[in-house]
Amino acid sequence: MAAFDSMAERYDAEFTDSALGRVLRPMVWERFAACFAPASSLLELGCGTGEDAIHLAKRGHHVLATDASPQMVDFARRKAEAAGVGDRIRFRVAPMESLSAVLGAEVFDGVYSNFGAVNCAPDLAALAGVLSPRLAPNAPLVWVIMGRCVPWEIGWYLLRGDRRRAFRRFRRDGAEWRGLTIHYPSPDDCARLLEPHFVFDVARPLGAVLPPSYAANWLERAPRRRAWLSRLERMLFERARGAGLGDHYVFEARRAA
Ligand SMILES: C[S@@+](CC[C@H](N)C(=O)[O-])C[C@H]1O[C@@H](n2cnc3c(N)ncnc32)[C@H](O)[C@@H]1O
Repeated sequence: MAAFDSMAERYDAEFTDSALGRVLRPMVWERFAACFAPASSLLELGCGTGEDAIHLAKRGHHVLATDASPQMVDFARRKAEAAGVGDRIRFRVAPMESLSAVLGAEVFDGVYSNFGAVNCAPDLAALAGVLSPRLAPNAPLVWVIMGRCVPWEIGWYLLRGDRRRAFRRFRRDGAEWRGLTIHYPSPDDCARLLEPHFVFDVARPLGAVLPPSYAANWLERAPRRRAWLSRLERMLFERARGAGLGDHYVFEARRAA
């Protein structure tokens, strides 16, 4: 997992602690709070630097946090210890495509994945089949997925004369990125792929108004424009309008009873 290993040390500085990250991640946390019952046992896919697992552990949940990148997991484990929640989080290096080996017969109250990790999974339908028996009936699934049709991205790259990047997310066989194949399912695609194991509930846009991270540096220097755009972003998010146009979208479903 060289692509992400090399990012582990700087990921928080470049995204988590950026102006964009500080607006978007708390919106996802609101959905976690709405979906997960108190003191749930949760499974995380693609935990990265552990920001979400630590947040949830501080609120009384227990998390099995998995990621394919040993460097990410190592960084996350150290961060959780430093935050004083190391005893509520178990970290495992485990690619989504071979999760069965680490999950055993344990049953979780919910599953989540943030900021595009599941876009790296080669087969979401197969993943749904692996997760289903390891979740309680009606257990919530909250996944933040990179979307397919992103006006911000199309405009950004077309203005720079880069047609290939502008439309990369529409490739049905996925787009190559640092040796990985990234898939960009729409909310409808995702609902279909997760059937019959999961019942789709709602999808909300994340980054439909605010720009993608590679186009967001200027937000650091423009607090008033950032506040104004963040308010619009939040309006769409709360009304669950325009999920298909977000750089990401929050996909909420339930394990079929
Ligand atoms: C964009 S980062 C998101 C990290 C974290 N969820 C967050 O919200 O900041 C994507 C994460 O997915 C992990 N990942 C990529 N492919 C994976 C796979 N096949 N199985 C498990 N994790 C994977 C990467 O190592 C990386 O930590």
